[in-house]
Amino acid sequence: MPKENIADHRWPMVIMANSLPVRRAKTKGQATWEMSPGGLVSALKPFVEKAGGAWIGWTGTAGRAPDPFMHESIANIPVPINAAELKGFYQGVCNRTLWPLYHDAIRPAEYHRHWWIHYVEVNRRFAEAAAKAVAPGGLVWVHDYHLHLVPRMLRELRGDIRIGFFLHIPFPPEELFQRLPWRRQILEGTLGADVVGFQTKAGAQNFMRLAQHHSGTRGRGSRLQVGDRSVHVGVFPISIDYERYESTARHPAVINHSDQLRKNLGLGRRIVLGVDRLDYTKGIDVRVKAFGELLSKGMQTIHDTVLVQVAVPSRERIEEYQELRSSVEELVGQINGRFGEVGIAPVHYLRRNLPFEELVAMYRAADVMLVTPFCDGMNLVAKEYIATRFDNTGVLILSEFAGAAPELRNSVLVNPHDVDGLAEAIHRGLTMSSKNAKRSMRAMRRVIRRNTVHDWARSFMKALRKD
Ligand code: G6P
Repeated sequence: MPKENIADHRWPMVIMANSLPVRRAKTKGQATWEMSPGGLVSALKPFVEKAGGAWIGWTGTAGRAPDPFMHESIANIPVPINAAELKGFYQGVCNRTLWPLYHDAIRPAEYHRHWWIHYVEVNRRFAEAAAKAVAPGGLVWVHDYHLHLVPRMLRELRGDIRIGFFLHIPFPPEELFQRLPWRRQILEGTLGADVVGFQTKAGAQNFMRLAQHHSGTRGRGSRLQVGDRSVHVGVFPISIDYERYESTARHPAVINHSDQLRKNLGLGRRIVLGVDRLDYTKGIDVRVKAFGELLSKGMQTIHDTVLVQVAVPSRERIEEYQELRSSVEELVGQINGRFGEVGIAPVHYLRRNLPFEELVAMYRAADVMLVTPFCDGMNLVAKEYIATRFDNTGVLILSEFAGAAPELRNSVLVNPHDVDGLAEAIHRGLTMSSKNAKRSMRAMRRVIRRNTVHDWARSFMKALRKD
């Protein structure tokens, strides 16, 4: 489609998220776009392509936005965010107010009116972009906490369309949410949607309760009556592209790479793995401490086992993230200094984003996978690990506070705050009989296979179309 037509076209389906599905890349010295690697993008891409749809989002860079452009049959409609908005909207309300508040307030949430002004402004800009882009009677699916106000703003501009909203992170209980000075605006903004989706039953129940207390709606079952409209509040646990992880895991090059990793880490050593964004919700610090306890108590030695922690850099300009990085790096240094020998490090810490095949090889090499967030909307790493275990080997240690826990009851469930409990769980994982490990893994694989990210997107779309 010629460039000038993209901006004027009306699309039957529009996805909205803070980030566009593409990111900047360089090919032969030329700046280009490439698809972002995330699960959300691979899940929604087939839908958007089939429907002939558009994706509205931010490029990740402050300043002027590029003109709308096509990439792999998806129209990308960039929304500009300026430097002040980057601070107030993205680093402020999104990442220092809503993010910590929604994650059990494990870091204090900050409430600043000058940030909130930017949050409202940016949400309005997104809503206006969608109102312009969507075809008569079309569908708009809004994603995550960055865009809570969009559904209502958009409904006021376009009464003829269907609007869905999905929250990828936990939705907090009343005691926490009601601290928010803008609680009514957030609830009413979200209630502009026809379908509001959450990862877990707890999230949906918290929302139902709060909507009734603070925004004058009436609830019945999974529905809220908002004026003359009925809003469906549903539970849609997100998942992964199971097929992609499994088939990559079976690939000979990946198998070779995984054998090589095992060799490099020391044959005979059992590998314990953590893979997370370097975020204070993920429990990396307590987990590393627990591994140290395991060694200190003599439950395992550095000749028997090794911890590999992959930490993907994230939100690095924010102070709490810088502090977390320092404390994790200090802990790793302490443990390696105390227990290491020349040529044998107890903890391997990789602060980087791994290419997809390398990540899968890492999952394949791991005997025990540690997923121990203090609070997490779902946690896809847990599901990715399971998908790669095509031979039913491997043990998953999972936090009770991950959204994935209700589906993955066959994992070794742990309290991620309990250092001793965690050390014991790692020991249990390392010493579990292969018969028991296989039984659990088989059961979990069945669960993940039945609800892939494609099923997730389909079921949300179905609810949105029919409601
Ligand atoms: C979580 C959120 C996403 C967000 C991602 C990475 O998974 O649910 O909406 O995109 O973290 O965070 P970032 O701030 O880098 O986009």
